[in-house]
Amino acid sequence: MNKIEKFIKKKNRSKIICLTAYSKNIANIIDKHCDLTLVGDSLGSVLYSFASTKKVTMDMMIEHSKSVRKGVTKSLMIVDMPYNTYRNSKEALKNARKIISNTKCDGVKLEGGKKICKIIKTLKKNKIQVMGHLGILPQSEKNFKYKGKEIAEKKKILQDAKLLEKAGVFSIVLECVESSLAKDITKSIKIPTIGIGASAYCDGQVLVTDDLIGLNKINARFVKQYSNVEKYINDAVLKFKQDVRKIKFPTKKHSY
Ligand code: KIV
Repeated sequence: MNKIEKFIKKKNRSKIICLTAYSKNIANIIDKHCDLTLVGDSLGSVLYSFASTKKVTMDMMIEHSKSVRKGVTKSLMIVDMPYNTYRNSKEALKNARKIISNTKCDGVKLEGGKKICKIIKTLKKNKIQVMGHLGILPQSEKNFKYKGKEIAEKKKILQDAKLLEKAGVFSIVLECVESSLAKDITKSIKIPTIGIGASAYCDGQVLVTDDLIGLNKINARFVKQYSNVEKYINDAVLKFKQDVRKIKFPTKKHSY
């Protein structure tokens, strides 16, 4: 059984753990605990303070992913295809191949439903593993309100999930999707759903690691901050500053 098959098999067995990483050191820590490490294009807002993920480039994704690859040994490593890099099958195939050959990742993630099914089929035909992404689609939306409140929207997202499964994705991220819709989707498809702001009905959960550890201050309902790494860094830097000022560092032990 390959890594992707093992991942799919986790559905209905144990909750699937996914987190983002943008560099080796974080990847090295989370890889021990995660089933999937995502190099998300959220790095555009989290690291580069872009107003949206639309400014994220192929080069940025590739360079960060190369670093992450050095820290990931166990989990599935998936890389987001940036905005405007999969507008048609030919472009998608060229860029997905470029990402995979440069980063040695296990697959790519694309945002969208019915519109991108043909593209997904082309990638699959060429042995490229694809993860889907429904609900809020940060690459194409300004409105970050949760999805699935209206019946028509609910129907469309459920249908999109079924179409993505048929097209060949191995899993689908559901971003900010109303709970009963997440439940319906999860029950209706055989591949795992990974929620972010999409309730505990999903087969697994993903969060942006910087949000979870308190390095990226974000006020979103779906985030739970598990640590305050900003404070740890601040305390360490403050101690260093005090030691240098008081000539307590470097000591003989740290000198040649
Ligand atoms: O870009 C990203 O980090 C993502 C996750 C939020 C799922 O797509």
